[in-house]
Amino acid sequence: MSNSAGGDVSATSSSRSATRGIVLGAFLKPAGEYLAGWRHPGAPADAGVNLPFVTGLVKRLERAGFDALFLPDLVGVPDADPEVLSRVAVVNDAFEPTTLLGALSTRTTSLGLIASVSSTYSSPAAVAATFASLDRLSSGRAGWNLVTSLNDAEARNFGLDSHIGHAERYARAEAFVDEVLGRWARDELPGGRPVIAQAGSSGPGQALAARVADLVFTRTLPLDQAVAYAEGLRATAAGLGRDPHAIKILPELPTVVAATRAEAEDRFAAVRDLLHPRVALGDLEYWLGGVDLSAFPLDGPLPETPPGNKSLGARAEIYEQAARDGLTIGDLAKQVAGGDGAIIGTAADVADHVEALVSAGAADGFNVSFPFLPDTLDAFCELVVPELRRRGLVTESPAPAPGARPLTLRARLGLA
Ligand SMILES: Cc1cc2nc3c(=O)[nH]c(=O)nc-3n(C[C@H](O)[C@H](O)[C@H](O)COP(=O)(O)O)c2cc1C
Repeated sequence: MSNSAGGDVSATSSSRSATRGIVLGAFLKPAGEYLAGWRHPGAPADAGVNLPFVTGLVKRLERAGFDALFLPDLVGVPDADPEVLSRVAVVNDAFEPTTLLGALSTRTTSLGLIASVSSTYSSPAAVAATFASLDRLSSGRAGWNLVTSLNDAEARNFGLDSHIGHAERYARAEAFVDEVLGRWARDELPGGRPVIAQAGSSGPGQALAARVADLVFTRTLPLDQAVAYAEGLRATAAGLGRDPHAIKILPELPTVVAATRAEAEDRFAAVRDLLHPRVALGDLEYWLGGVDLSAFPLDGPLPETPPGNKSLGARAEIYEQAARDGLTIGDLAKQVAGGDGAIIGTAADVADHVEALVSAGAADGFNVSFPFLPDTLDAFCELVVPELRRRGLVTESPAPAPGARPLTLRARLGLA
């Protein structure tokens, strides 16, 4: 099994410290998380805007026992070489997430519905009203993933020349979320109030999460870094007077699973061969903050580049990965663009990884992502979820009494 983020996880202990079920979220990009995923022969060409296809995926997640759906969003098409943009599907063709959740609220009954909305390019009144409405439509299953946005193209859609600076957008996010919470507190909502998720990994991002987040979404990190992150976040939350275990930490979990490791490797290799080298390099340039690496050889080391004004957390992780694994630009681009630490193996391999992070206190659950669809989602539901249940890591949600409403998302997550 390969796992570029966590090394060999197949040797981890199988001790079980989890007595309660973990949280299972699904981070869904219908065209596939992997940049070449949309080219998989099984993927519909219009996956991102195909409501029957998306509904089918979401119903499968609900039937399998997932707790919540997480939808990403960008509010502009990133500045990138048109050659790259013409070869990706992820950012260009997708429903706006809150309207999609409105449609899904009537097609699902128990799944939490969480959408990303930017505190940089929206208003607190709009966010409060949208999610209050979604909470009613879904009988208390709504959640807001507070993001601060990523690029200049987004800023230009809102009448600015460039993306607001990192410190300023987090200062704005802090005030923004307080206003949203204040508005919800004056409103009676089925779920008490919508769940708040946060995914910033820089210092200010973690500080915001420690203060207000119910769920924290993290990238895949090596075990020691994941533990350090979780301990740091919980200590900051406790310092602010919060119950540190009221924050559920969900690392991303991309997987390609099959009955055998060889079969899983083959499935992934078939899609990896569809990744265009220019797309891979473009993705690396984007996550480094919009740099131009075209003058550097692909088989050479990653040079120092200016920090840019995007996700400083993501950028730092890429430099760490390059130094740790001694990667060339070309290899790094393939890894960053290639699902970023996907576990490629059997259901037991994934369950071992899950168990290791949960036992070490680094995760309360996972945001499962799907390199290509529908294959990797079907395989997770059919193979991995039963294995997690067998190990007691995933438990059945308590069934509502006959005639009673399904659990709200807060109740389902065990949040106050
Ligand atoms: C797993 C993950 C998913 C994210 N999804 C989105 C998204 O859909 N839209 C967005 O604008 N930002 C997204 N972000 C970015 C963060 O929410 C955050 O605004 C950004 O990383 C900058 O903060 P940082 O410097 O603290 O990392 C995501 C981050 C992570 C780690």
